[in-house]
Amino acid sequence: MSATDASAAVSSTLVEARGVVKTYPLRNAWGRTRGTVRAVDGVDLAIRRGETLALVGESGSGKSTLGRCLLQMEEPDSGTVAYDGVDLTALPRARRADYHRSMQIIFQDPFSSLNPHRTALQNVMEPLAVLAPGADARARAVEALAAVGIEGDAVHRRPRAFSGGQRQRIVIARAIAVRPGFVVCDEPLSALDMSIQAQVTDLLLTLQRELDLTYLFISHDLSVVRQIATRTAVMNRGRIVELGPTAEVFASPQHAYTRHLLDAMLTADPAEARRRLERISARPEPAAFEAEGGALAEVAPGHFVLR
Ligand SMILES: Nc1ncnc2c1ncn2[C@@H]1O[C@H](COP(=O)(O)OP(=O)(O)OP(=O)(O)O)[C@@H](O)[C@H]1O
Ligand SMILES: [Mg+2]
Repeated sequence: MSATDASAAVSSTLVEARGVVKTYPLRNAWGRTRGTVRAVDGVDLAIRRGETLALVGESGSGKSTLGRCLLQMEEPDSGTVAYDGVDLTALPRARRADYHRSMQIIFQDPFSSLNPHRTALQNVMEPLAVLAPGADARARAVEALAAVGIEGDAVHRRPRAFSGGQRQRIVIARAIAVRPGFVVCDEPLSALDMSIQAQVTDLLLTLQRELDLTYLFISHDLSVVRQIATRTAVMNRGRIVELGPTAEVFASPQHAYTRHLLDAMLTADPAEARRRLERISARPEPAAFEAEGGALAEVAPGHFVLR
C-alpha cells in the first residue's frame, strides 16, 4: 500500500453521532415529574478529523447535553456514538473507559473545574494518574503547563493565585496533558474578559495545530465562531436544524430558526448576545419553529437544512 492509499484509508470522520436521543424527567417546582424534556432529539452529526465544528443555539437547546453524550459522560436513551470508527455505545462499560482519555472537555467556569486546594501542577497531574497510568505524570503535566504558558515556580501555586485567563489555561493544560484527539469546548471563553478571550482563542488554535486536535466548540459569540470554526451546526430544541461551512451559514442562512438566531447573536458584546439568547428561550416558541419532523436535506455542497 502506498502512503497515499494509507492516508485515504483513514476515515475523515473522527466522532460520529447517529440518531442520538437524550431525555430528562421534567419536574415541577415541588420536584414532581411532569413529563420529559427531549434535550437531544435524534441528532446525526459527523465531526471531521482536525476540524473545529461550532455548535450554536439558544440557551436550553441541548448543546451541552449533546457534547456530554458524545463524550460518554451521559448515556443516550437511544442512538450511537462512534469514535475513530468504534461504536462506543456498543462497548461494555469497562472498555469504554479506554476512550475517556481520547475525549476531553473544557468548561466555561475554570474556577469550579479546578480543585482549589491543589496546585496547578497537582490539578493537571490528577487525571493522568487515572487515564494514563504508567506515564511520567509529573513530566507530562509540566510539559502541558508550559504549552499553555505557565512555567517555573508558578506551577506550584493554587488556582486562587491566578487570574481568570490563567486558570482557564490550567484547565486547558489538564485537558491536553492526557493527549486527547477530541475536545469539547463548552463556552470556554464566556467567563473571561474580552481582552483575555482573544489570547485564549489563539492558544486553542495553536494547540489544535500542534497536537492535531478536533474541536466541538459550543459558543454564543458569533465573532469567535466566525474566526475559528470550519463548519457550524445550529441547534434548536434538541435538533440540528442547519449545518454547513461557517461562512455560508452566516452569509446565507437557510432555516428560519438560523436567521432568527443570527439576528439575536449579531451584537459585538458576547454578554449581551447571551442575555438576548436567554430572552428568546424564555419566550414561547414562535409557531414557525415548532412541530418539526423531517430530515437534513443538502441544499448546497456540504450545507444541510432541516426540511
Ligand atoms: N441533568 C439534567 N437534568 C434534567 N434536565 C436537564 C439536565 N441537563 C440538561 N437538562 C435540560 O435539557 C435541556 C437542554 O439543556 P442543555 O444544558 O443541554 O442546553 P444548552 O444548549 O447547553 O444551554 P446553555 O446555552 O444555557 O448552556 C434543557 O431543557 C435543560 O433544562
Ligand atoms: Mg450549555
